[in-house]
Amino acid sequence: MAQEYMSAAGGADERKFVPPLPRISIQCFCETEEVHGLLSQAAADRRAGRTHMTVQMGGLAAAREFYEAAPTPNVIALETTSTPDALLMSLDSLAEVCDPDTKVIIIGHTNDILLYRRLIDRGVTDYLVVPMDPLDFLGSISAVFGTDKAKQLGRTLAFFGARGGAGSSTIAHNVAWAISQDLLQDVVIADLDLPFGTSGLNFNQDPVQGIADAIYAGERLDENFLDRLMSKCTDRLSLMASPGTLEREYDVEQTPLDQLFALVRGNVPATVLDVPHMWSGWAHSTLMQADDIIITATPDLTSLRNTKNLVDHLKANRSHDRQPFLVLNQVGIPKRPEIAPKEFGDSVGLEPSAVVAFDPQLFGTAANNGQMIAEMQASAKPVEAFGTLAETLMGKREVRARKRSALSPLLEKLKRKG
Ligand SMILES: Nc1ncnc2c1ncn2[C@@H]1O[C@H](COP(=O)(O)OP(=O)(O)OP(=O)(O)O)[C@@H](O)[C@H]1O
Ligand SMILES: [Mg+2]
Repeated sequence: MAQEYMSAAGGADERKFVPPLPRISIQCFCETEEVHGLLSQAAADRRAGRTHMTVQMGGLAAAREFYEAAPTPNVIALETTSTPDALLMSLDSLAEVCDPDTKVIIIGHTNDILLYRRLIDRGVTDYLVVPMDPLDFLGSISAVFGTDKAKQLGRTLAFFGARGGAGSSTIAHNVAWAISQDLLQDVVIADLDLPFGTSGLNFNQDPVQGIADAIYAGERLDENFLDRLMSKCTDRLSLMASPGTLEREYDVEQTPLDQLFALVRGNVPATVLDVPHMWSGWAHSTLMQADDIIITATPDLTSLRNTKNLVDHLKANRSHDRQPFLVLNQVGIPKRPEIAPKEFGDSVGLEPSAVVAFDPQLFGTAANNGQMIAEMQASAKPVEAFGTLAETLMGKREVRARKRSALSPLLEKLKRKG
């Protein structure tokens, strides 16, 4: 594979620099073998090494059908051989099943500036014309997700417990799992509870220094260094685990954390910050900078007071942001007097986004096995709440409802027969 691209038109000396792409998902629907081959080459290029890129045939019609039931990726590339009017009609139809933040790139066969303008007006990101080089394609994507536009890619979600042991880490890890499994978006979990964090245990990963090394790396911190610090739990979910040891004291400063968050944000669509229950300078500042904050509370008076204080503080200091999300967890402990979810919500001025029952068997077994709830028991009740929260946080349309069950083709057949 050529390491550097030499432009066909410009001769051997004209080199095009395309940086490696971040951890995004790219799905391509082609109409001709030529473009299929070209995009397959792009997918095999080292610059696409961190991405999840698929190339298939079928053009816009196949894409329309595919996204009826599947979550949309970060980028959709569509080859077309249709007339401009037919193309625009198909695009409108595709828009009905796509998330608005998905970038669409059209690959056409005619160098038509009027069509280009009409497409850009409709929110299409780029219009490329064949013949082109695989690097033209990767370059077009890089222009959207390049480092200077890093903010466009990643969302940072900070999970914070209203009191110690409320289950904030558990909720954070399970929501991260849903983002990676249901929405098919790459996620990194940063476990910021350096001495006591449980992410390594919860995902059954050997302890790595991950997050501590990242924070204390100083100048050495870059994308490649970061790659080495992350343990891969699944294809799309990586973990920056905490050491979880007491060999040293962890005094964290804000600057290296900010650098770390900026780096991850530019490279991964979702960063889940597992923030420990403390109110130090860095913990506070981490919450302030997050795109969304998820407060996990238990239905008791301590949690209620702390949640109220947090909500008031966040409202006053993040007036241009979304309100925090509230998860009521460990609801229904036998014999324990509790504040009802509605009453809790009314008192803090937030409707709970999820109410998760106390289920020591389910959560205890998952924790002991080092598994997520969905992995252990996909039909368990909290799984749905985690999925819905993941969709809301990532701004995705509901996909699970649209997902066809494994039985549905069979059921349809039976219906037709009947
Ligand atoms: N809904 C639930 N039902 C039963 N047990 C739960 C539930 N949610 C969490 N747990 C358990 O509660 C314990 C504490 O959870 P977790 O470590 O996620 O809380 P935390 O808020 O992150 O705590 P810390 O303050 O230590 O960071 C864990 O053993 C977890 O398995
Ligand atoms: Mg925790």
